[in-house]
Amino acid sequence: MAIKGEHGIKVRHARTKDVRAIAALMQPYVQERILLGKDLVVLYESVQEFRVAVTPEDEVVGAGALHVMWDDIAEARSIAVRQDWLGKGVGRVLLEGLERDALKLGLKSLFCLTFEVAFFERAGFEAMDEGEPLVAADVYAELVRSPDEGVAEALDLARVKPNTLGNTRMLKRIG
Ligand SMILES: CC(C)(COP(=O)(O)OP(=O)(O)OC[C@H]1O[C@@H](n2cnc3c(N)ncnc32)[C@H](O)[C@@H]1OP(=O)(O)O)[C@@H](O)C(=O)NCCC(=O)NCCS
Repeated sequence: MAIKGEHGIKVRHARTKDVRAIAALMQPYVQERILLGKDLVVLYESVQEFRVAVTPEDEVVGAGALHVMWDDIAEARSIAVRQDWLGKGVGRVLLEGLERDALKLGLKSLFCLTFEVAFFERAGFEAMDEGEPLVAADVYAELVRSPDEGVAEALDLARVKPNTLGNTRMLKRIG
């Protein structure tokens, strides 16, 4: 069943026809270096990770992705609300949708890397301490092998530090 929010907003799985709208609503945040930019091909390849928030007319007003990292942890990433819809509960309902799907997958924690600390705190995330490990050492040794830039950022690897300046690493236990 779809998750419903205020103003008749529903969260559903993204479809390929939504990808250009997702790219368009991410664009201003990518330009401001708030979100990691993604080429259209990458968005198509990861469409199954994306959920969209849609109006009753099925207009996409928000999007966000769930990227599984290991058996018990995923990242809530690329969450973006269309600028004329900010502050109307779209972000909250998107995050609820991602969390529900994370639970269905059997995950226990959700990670995010963000400037929007207050928004994520409202949703039950807690800021991690500087240098606090995200995963146990044996899992870390596996995760550093990932080709995914977001995973490298989650692990706070030196080579991606310039991308993550000013961001806060946050975690929520969900299961
Ligand atoms: C962060 C973002 C998704 C929030 O979306 P939104 O639809 O405006 O948020 P909501 O209206 O659902 O707000 C939910 C709650 O968070 C609070 N909140 C949202 N943005 C906030 C902010 N910048 N500062 C303080 N509180 C904020 C709201 O007041 C609301 O609080 P409540 O529970 O007391 O009502 C949106 O600002 C955005 O797209 N930002 C750019 C991209 C980004 O930073 N994404 C996060 C990293 S992946």
